Amino acid sequence: MISIYYFTATGNSLTTARRLADGLGGCRLIPVVSAVRHKKIVEEAEAVGFVFPVYFSDAPCIVRDLISKMIFTAEKPYIFAVPTCRGHAGACHQRLDQLLMTRGQKLSLAVNVNMPGNSYINEPGVDEKHLANQDSSVQAILPLIRSRETRDYSEPALLPLARTAWPNNFRGITAEADKCTGCGICEEVCPMGNIVLREGKAVIGDNCSTCLACFHWCPNEAIWMSKQENIARRSKYRHPEIKLQDVINQKN
Ligand SMILES: Cc1cc2nc3c(=O)[nH]c(=O)nc-3n(C[C@H](O)[C@H](O)[C@H](O)COP(=O)(O)O)c2cc1C
Ligand code: SF4
Ligand code: SF4
Repeated sequence: MISIYYFTATGNSLTTARRLADGLGGCRLIPVVSAVRHKKIVEEAEAVGFVFPVYFSDAPCIVRDLISKMIFTAEKPYIFAVPTCRGHAGACHQRLDQLLMTRGQKLSLAVNVNMPGNSYINEPGVDEKHLANQDSSVQAILPLIRSRETRDYSEPALLPLARTAWPNNFRGITAEADKCTGCGICEEVCPMGNIVLREGKAVIGDNCSTCLACFHWCPNEAIWMSKQENIARRSKYRHPEIKLQDVINQKN
């Protein structure tokens, strides 16, 4: 049995995790958002995977939080990561290896899957190409995992941990009361429980993983995703295979 933990805001990572699970067979897909609620997570599988979006060259804080609670009981588990990103994963692999070291483990293999960016925008055509190549990118990873290929990630990451490694709202994500209809979708998709409705309007706090699920799923253009003008009102992105309920179901 292979356990694959996934986290997603706009579907790139969930659809990648599903493709991996289909290709490998015998996998258990586990949402990070629900697993992380436990005080400790005992993982017995011989092979354990993590599929998540890259945030500023790191894993999202919710994924780091999960790993820092994990106890791996297999003798030498094969631990792999398939980060999805818009093309610049930076020191993400080394950081993951360093984090796993605190759990007495090593990262065995990490291979990125390039996907449309849900934050900064790529050059025209790049996102479409990445989406079209998702299947072949995953197909190329499957034999590496099947043969338990390993690589070395022990070279220390020189950059400091990204601001996204801890929950905060450094991007200044806000809901605009005039446009908010109080539909509650942002509250439902938020993996951090960081959005509440007060008097029928969404209010966003500082326990934010910067995942941008609220921005991309709000049906009313009511959420600003950044203080940076060039991306504050960028167009919405959702992976074409993903439904709102898939994102909400991560909490179950
Ligand atoms: C806050 C934030 C930071 C990001 N930082 C990076 C980055 O450093 N490098 C990169 O290539 N993509 C970056 N991205 C893009 C996402 O990693 C990418 O779109 C990912 O596939 C989204 O996954 P999801 O659809 O499963 O949520 C960032 C996205 C967000 C929201
Ligand atoms: S999803 Fe948008 S419209 Fe709905 S409650 Fe949230 S901010 Fe308001
Ligand atoms: S407030 Fe928005 S960006 Fe922050 S964690 Fe919740 S859904 Fe993600």
